Amino acid sequence: MISLDVNGKIYNIDVSPDTPLLWVIREHLELHGTKFGCGMAQCGACTVHIDGKARRSCQTRVKDAAGKKITTIEGIPEEHPVIKAWVEDEVPQCGYCQPGQIMSAVALLKENPEPTDNDIDNAMTGNLCRCGTYQRIRRSIHRASKMMAEGGKS
Ligand code: FES
Ligand code: FES
Repeated sequence: MISLDVNGKIYNIDVSPDTPLLWVIREHLELHGTKFGCGMAQCGACTVHIDGKARRSCQTRVKDAAGKKITTIEGIPEEHPVIKAWVEDEVPQCGYCQPGQIMSAVALLKENPEPTDNDIDNAMTGNLCRCGTYQRIRRSIHRASKMMAEGGKS
């Protein structure tokens, strides 16, 4: 039995310790916001936070996430500046990559509340978007940064 803290809730799961965390999140916990893209740490669709850092859940074994704080897209509140900025800028097209994009953006702004274009490009480089929403993502991260500076919640 492996005990996981996901979005502040404890789950005890009977699964092989080497199972990818992504499978557990989607199949066992039925949190489907986190997406399966490449399964090889190449696309970022499966990004979650582990102890506040953006991590690829397809390449994280569940045993390595035990005892840590895991946050999925479902754990990001709607009033979070990144979510608000995403809505205002109408960032998503098909939407498939967006949970992963948002998780990376939230982690970036936590570490670097006023990122430059370059900082954003570096932090977001592992999150691919087949629809090409990169310009709006960048604009939205700046917008969220401004909201946070003006007192929005992070
Ligand atoms: S599914 Fe994990 S990086 Fe693509
Ligand atoms: S919005 Fe379609 S893949 Fe990014």
